[in-house]
Amino acid sequence: MMTKAAITAVAGYLPENILTNSDLEKMIDTTDEWITTRTGIKERHIENDPGKATSDMAVEAVKLLCKKSGMGVEEIDLLICGTVTPDMVFPATSNIICAKLGAKNAWGFDLGAACSGFIYGLSVGAQFIETGKYKKVVVVGADMMSRIIDYEDRATCVIFGDGAGAVLLEPTKEEVGILDFILHADGNGAAHLHMKAGGSLRPPSHETVDSKMHFVHQEGQAVFKHAVYNMAEVSAKIMEQNDLKAEDVTWLAAHQANKRIIDATASRMGIGKEKVMMNIENYGNTTAGTIPLLLWDYEKQLKKGDNIILSAFGGGFTWGAIYLKWAYDGSKIGK
Ligand code: UT7
Repeated sequence: MMTKAAITAVAGYLPENILTNSDLEKMIDTTDEWITTRTGIKERHIENDPGKATSDMAVEAVKLLCKKSGMGVEEIDLLICGTVTPDMVFPATSNIICAKLGAKNAWGFDLGAACSGFIYGLSVGAQFIETGKYKKVVVVGADMMSRIIDYEDRATCVIFGDGAGAVLLEPTKEEVGILDFILHADGNGAAHLHMKAGGSLRPPSHETVDSKMHFVHQEGQAVFKHAVYNMAEVSAKIMEQNDLKAEDVTWLAAHQANKRIIDATASRMGIGKEKVMMNIENYGNTTAGTIPLLLWDYEKQLKKGDNIILSAFGGGFTWGAIYLKWAYDGSKIGK
């Protein structure tokens, strides 16, 4: 029987400090009503210690993952970190995470697929398990978006938050684990969602700083249109190619960018809102962090054999969906 990769533990981390909609009302021209009805967000966690970076959130998440799974850090073979807010341009944040953890037997890399970073990472990590090469692969989705957001730009600053989630992938011979994935990318979408400077095209300079080129540039409506269409289509497609009817789907764990995009995806899949994991209200959009954070928050409700669809859309453009069968009873696990 074929070896499959199963998620056997999940953990997360959110900075303590919370930025509410009413805090934002004092900072920019916005209202709680606008943010709530247009996005579904009420509050987000923001790291306010300037000495902390993305790797620190990821380290906390992976430490908890180790504690929950009973895994020693030196057992980790590979650590993949989905992020667009690496600690530095290089070395990879995954290297920094492993060093801080003392995961001396692991190698790893960062995966730059923006909001799809976690599903890309999970699909890649699963390959190393399925081939029999590795026994323990950690996939992290972590972003400190507050470090690349302009808090004078009301169209972006209300959406994003900071956070990290992590899962452990292990081999299984049972009928659980990652069963299928569909991944897409279209670099033509870059025009609508990108950071203008800081890379080799426009290295940092006084001019790039003065022109606010180190912040997220997002054309909200264009991204929204592509997100609604593609996340819904890819989620429906993965159901179709695995002969899943709406009643077969136990949960949808969709990237938390905007509640309206998630609702549109659920409606295209024909599933009711009771099957839709949602935590955007409290965390906002944590980019690569949203999906592992959802799994962490809902873990207690997950049962062995549950059919779960993960789906995401984000900068790149990148998008895709994963079909997995949950591998354990979450009710028996402490958060
Ligand atoms: O996760 C990665 C991928 N990202 C996404 O999926 C995000 C996709 N986009 C969105 O979620 C939405 O486009 C936003 C939430 C970013 C914006 O919502 P929208 O309904 O598309 O608003 P809009 O950009 O069309 O703006 C409508 C109006 C504008 O005013 P006028 O020009 O009609 O007078 C904006 O200036 O709302 C205004 N506006 C605001 N008003 C109050 C924009 N931001 C705010 C704000 N508070 N924070």
